[in-house]
Amino acid sequence: MDYAVLKAVDFRVSRFALGTWSFSGSRNWGPNDEKESIETIHMAMDLGVNFIDSAPKYNDGAAEVILGKAIKGRRDKVIVATKAYTDELTRDGMAKACDASLKRLASDYIDLYQVHWPSRTIPFPETMAAFEKLKTAGKIRAIGVCNYGVKCVEGLKGHAVATNQLPYSLLWRQIEDEIIPKSRSQEISIWPYCPLAQGLLTGKFKNIDDVPLPRRNVRFYSGAWKQGLHSDGGFEKEIFDFLPKLQAAADKAGLPMAALALAFLRDRPGVDSVLVGARSREQLRDNIKMFETRIPPETMAEAIRLSDDLKPKMGKNPDLWQSENGGRFF
Ligand SMILES: NC(=O)c1ccc[n+]([C@@H]2O[C@H](COP(=O)([O-])OP(=O)(O)OC[C@H]3O[C@@H](n4cnc5c(N)ncnc54)[C@H](OP(=O)(O)O)[C@@H]3O)[C@@H](O)[C@H]2O)c1
Repeated sequence: MDYAVLKAVDFRVSRFALGTWSFSGSRNWGPNDEKESIETIHMAMDLGVNFIDSAPKYNDGAAEVILGKAIKGRRDKVIVATKAYTDELTRDGMAKACDASLKRLASDYIDLYQVHWPSRTIPFPETMAAFEKLKTAGKIRAIGVCNYGVKCVEGLKGHAVATNQLPYSLLWRQIEDEIIPKSRSQEISIWPYCPLAQGLLTGKFKNIDDVPLPRRNVRFYSGAWKQGLHSDGGFEKEIFDFLPKLQAAADKAGLPMAALALAFLRDRPGVDSVLVGARSREQLRDNIKMFETRIPPETMAEAIRLSDDLKPKMGKNPDLWQSENGGRFF
């Protein structure tokens, strides 16, 4: 496993980070066996992964509880990241949310405490003051954010912020033009999530009928499925035109398609660690192996060329769930 240092906070993190959302049993993912989830986290740690992300929103704290059980007795071996939600970003709200997360994680500190989605109403300095207070109390070690657009990132000036967690993959590159350069200019590490586009970039979904109905809640898919928070047309045609071309590029090199997807993010400037989901030990083992695969330059160039063709067709809104008022990024 390779490691990188998050500049703002001097944490040495594994370049492959593990997400816990799909362990939570939330509606979009469906149930997962708890024992398998815990063993997957153990396997990740045994293979050198020391950076694990969770959130209270992942099925009402269920993912944090599983993570807490998995790290029992090994707390010092892992950098635990979790989050406070939009309506909790006040001084009192964050204090309460942090205590609840600590309880579920069965830990007395959180390594990286993040804003899950920014608030347009809670004053920015109040949120930062709440973070600083939690740091002083020793309940959190470092601050991170998720889904921060340019204006939000600007507001972080003067604070040591480790990461901006953002939706990013060969299919979803809206953050590249403004959010990445802005974050990098403030030494905030880009932490990509949904790197496999929730399974699409593994190549296992050949057409829309293969995609489990509850997972069609994201903006990849049409709002007509009535699974999510948006009502736009989705990008099913664009995506299912693109995937066979990417698969052909991977086949030509004798590589799995997901290896191209993971290597693309691994090698992006400003990305120290990539946040990958895996709901079983088998997926985890495959994903780490693919993450570490060296991709011939001509194959990567072909993947990026195909993705460059797709990019302008996918719109400008990076929010994977909402489109109302242009989405929740600002
Ligand atoms: N900050 C935020 O707003 C935010 C938002 C979303 C996610 N996140 C974080 O990012 C993490 C990763 O994103 P994600 O889990 O949503 O998406 P992802 O990593 O793109 O996809 C993960 C899912 O793809 C499938 N998969 C993974 N590896 C596979 C393999 N080798 N073969 C076949 N299928 C495979 C699995 O689902 P199936 O087996 O069911 O197909 C798995 O749960 C999350 O766990 C969470 O921690 C953060």
